[in-house]
Amino acid sequence: MTLFTPLRLREIEFKNRIGVSPMCQYSAKDGHPGTWHLVHLGSRAVGGAALVMTEASAVQEAGRISPGDAGMYLDAHVDSWRPIAGFVKEQGAVPGMQLAHAGRKASTAAPWFGGGPLTHEQGGWTPVSSTSIPFGAGHPVPRALTLTELDQVVSDFQQATRRALAAGFQFVEIHAAHGYLLHQFYSPLSNDRKDDYGGSFENRIRLLLRVTQAIRETLPQTLPLLVRISATDWNEGGWDLEQSIELCRRLKELGVDLVDVSSGGILPGIKIPAGPGYQVEFAEAIRRQAGVATAAVGMITDPTQAESIVATGQADMVFLAREMLRDPYWPRRAAAALQTKIKPPVQYERAW
Ligand SMILES: Cc1cc2nc3c(=O)[nH]c(=O)nc-3n(C[C@H](O)[C@H](O)[C@H](O)COP(=O)(O)O)c2cc1C
Repeated sequence: MTLFTPLRLREIEFKNRIGVSPMCQYSAKDGHPGTWHLVHLGSRAVGGAALVMTEASAVQEAGRISPGDAGMYLDAHVDSWRPIAGFVKEQGAVPGMQLAHAGRKASTAAPWFGGGPLTHEQGGWTPVSSTSIPFGAGHPVPRALTLTELDQVVSDFQQATRRALAAGFQFVEIHAAHGYLLHQFYSPLSNDRKDDYGGSFENRIRLLLRVTQAIRETLPQTLPLLVRISATDWNEGGWDLEQSIELCRRLKELGVDLVDVSSGGILPGIKIPAGPGYQVEFAEAIRRQAGVATAAVGMITDPTQAESIVATGQADMVFLAREMLRDPYWPRRAAAALQTKIKPPVQYERAW
């Protein structure tokens, strides 16, 4: 097994084990992606990644992290995404959409405007969550979702999946990590509910399982479903690896094909011991103990490091984020470093 061995999930073949991790660009208008998104995602498909995932795309307008977030909450978004999914596919990469709801971490400014919470006067809105406790000091007080509104969240994830399919995406990833809405439900650090969605492990994972089931029913059997989780809150009394493994067993039973294993994000100020490949051990434990395919992500930058993660069975794929911003041609560089030949686009053949 190497970094360039193809991987099949259901009827979809990924030509190698390299994925472009979802990355917000804060550059959409009313949820519509534009030329920036086409060039950004398109370049990374030309760069040779097998899997190219969109940024977190909101399933509800109020679920955007920032006003510039991309969305799939309107039928009109389908036409804006279609050329992007089409171009990625033409390059031999598999286009996928990450569907998201930011919950209480919604309504913030883009990083280059400081990233802080936005007031209503600044164009912000009241976020919704599992709880009415804010993410942190200075963050808006969220409104705890009612049971009827939870049904709406499930159905909006499902509706957004239908739109993603209509736009030509070939898989969906549910964003259930980084302290956003679904993570707000499963972490004990952000869920103080007294109803069927709070308290016990079963109750805390209920919303994610419902969303997963609804999306699986909507996706054709031929197309894969991915879920991104935070494997740990890195905090005493919080969500941890053991709960993640049990959750992933359930996700697998519901037809999830690959778990994208990240961590953190539930509360501000928690210290994370980040370093090269610092989350790989979680991807490995989940792969081995839950028996589900995983992607490792987080400070994977070096071709030999990436090759070793796949070759030793720590994960089935590697997802790269910031390294792909530094170098969209990273897969081509990795192939050269690992003495593997991969084809350039025909238009570029004279340079190879
Ligand atoms: C600019 C930027 C935007 C990001 N946006 C998202 C996102 O939309 N969804 C998500 O799940 N993770 C997002 N992430 C996290 C990355 O996907 C990735 O998990 C993280 O950066 C660690 O990988 P890296 O060390 O290769 O950058 C973002 C990261 C960056 C740098």
